[in-house]
Amino acid sequence: MSILSKTIIGVLILAATLIITFRAIDHEPVDDLSFQGKTIAIIDNSGCMVCHGSNPKLPWYSKLPLIGNKIKNDSKKGFASINLQPYYESILSAGKITNETASRVDSVIVAHDMPPISYSIIRPGSRVNGKEREILLEWNKLHQ
Ligand code: HEC
Repeated sequence: MSILSKTIIGVLILAATLIITFRAIDHEPVDDLSFQGKTIAIIDNSGCMVCHGSNPKLPWYSKLPLIGNKIKNDSKKGFASINLQPYYESILSAGKITNETASRVDSVIVAHDMPPISYSIIRPGSRVNGKEREILLEWNKLHQ
């Protein structure tokens, strides 16, 4: 086999591996969870509370140069912009969400703004996909 065809096969195998891995981590929460369980899983998997919770647990790469500073700053800025602790707790207790919080969360979810790239670049599965977006919007709509 020529070097060229070996290279092409190598690239194809690599691409297939990446696609399979990405699809495996980018799925919606497992179907046997309840509506509430799915909503909590979406918030947890998307790292919302890393930047918008009162007790942020920063990911390991916050210790790395460059990306680490970016995520630390985003976490500070995110919490200053909106504290989602009461929102998260209202989901845990299936309680009411204020209209203001619901509409601010809805707009970032619809606009694909959250989580920011500093978070999702290391965790591709943390992006809020179409199915997850529908679940979150539906939860917010039913709990105002
Ligand atoms: C890496 C940190 C980080 C993560 C993770 C993150 N956010 Fe944010 N968030 C920010 C920052 C920074 C801002 C401020 C953006 C700005 O003002 O430009 C923000 C702003 C917001 C706002 C306010 C928008 C407005 O102006 O009204 C909402 C709502 C929000 N985020 C929701 C979420 C949700 C929901 C998730 C999870 C799906 C999430 N965020 C994940 C950092 C983060």
